Amino acid sequence: MNLKNCINIEDLREAAKSRAHKMVFDYIDGGADDEKTLLKNKSAFDNYELFYKVLSGVDSPDTSTTLLGEKIDVPFILSPSAGNRLFHTVGEVGPAIAAEKVGTIYSLATLSSVSIEEIGALTKTPKWFQLYIWKDRGLVREMLERAKAAGFTALFLTVDLPIAGNRERDPRNGFTIPPKIGPKQIWEGIKAPRWVKDYLLSPQITYANLNNATSAISLNNFIKDQMDASFNWADVEWLLGEWNGPSILKGVVRADDALQAEKVGFNAISISNHGGRQLDTSPAPIACLPAIRNIVSDKTELIVDGGIRRGTDVLKALAMGANAVSFARPYLYGLAAGGKEGAIHAVELIRDSIVRDMILLGAQSVNDIDESFVKTISKV
Ligand code: GLV
Repeated sequence: MNLKNCINIEDLREAAKSRAHKMVFDYIDGGADDEKTLLKNKSAFDNYELFYKVLSGVDSPDTSTTLLGEKIDVPFILSPSAGNRLFHTVGEVGPAIAAEKVGTIYSLATLSSVSIEEIGALTKTPKWFQLYIWKDRGLVREMLERAKAAGFTALFLTVDLPIAGNRERDPRNGFTIPPKIGPKQIWEGIKAPRWVKDYLLSPQITYANLNNATSAISLNNFIKDQMDASFNWADVEWLLGEWNGPSILKGVVRADDALQAEKVGFNAISISNHGGRQLDTSPAPIACLPAIRNIVSDKTELIVDGGIRRGTDVLKALAMGANAVSFARPYLYGLAAGGKEGAIHAVELIRDSIVRDMILLGAQSVNDIDESFVKTISKV
């Protein structure tokens, strides 16, 4: 499907499915175990309704807001995601430019396929660095230093992945990073000639922030080998001391963990279950938001992700007390469907739907979107 004919994120998803190799589409699209959380993240938004105001005279709403003191033009940021060159040869360059195009924050993954330095030099809008905790603490320190030197302004510490979730589509597809090409991959490759051509003509896909290229290995085994599942609240103190700057804790669903995050010094909390890719049957982030908003102070900023596809999803999260939302799959579908242009198209679709929906809601600015605009549907 031509990008111009993609009028919503689901269209981009279909376009990604038809262009990308099955193993990489499934890596973007899939979740853990029975994918219950993956589905619930999206359907949980149906539990809330938007109560719009009439005759509020809003014709040109202001979608800007601030996050960790940085002004952003839209109330969303781009979540980190690993190995973007798997999806399209431009890799993380695509979404980083898309973020700049709509005036927001791009967050680069530890396991990116374009380096910290290249992305740091690429765009002028603020960038955050997502970190997993390597067993090798020297490597953690080195990555923090590189991120700081490259101009990344905040540390986005992800803690819902002590080990990788059980994503069953990946072993079924024989998916590894970098991809290993056997009979199954060749068979599926026949159905994805554009992806295959790009893949064959571009340099080997690697984790660009590591000095040594890794051999083809499943994400599960790579994480098990390299990341430190024993990392805990006591270690966080050491880490925040090393970083010594703004920080966000990503992957929180419990109010007690949110409170603890605030206590140890995080400036913001990302309410997230890793897009349903980790512990299946964990709750949808939007459902966790009220309890967390209630317990932390107003100073602690909250970012909600999981299942965001429409402006209405964003408005519901803002009305329920989020400072902003974040997402990865929408821009990854765009990237896999059409490279940089596809990633830009995805974020522009969401931005434009926020503008339209703020006019329909009767909210002039993001700050005006309070709890009066949202109601939980009562279950009979
Ligand atoms: C990596 O962070 C993943 O979710 O695949």
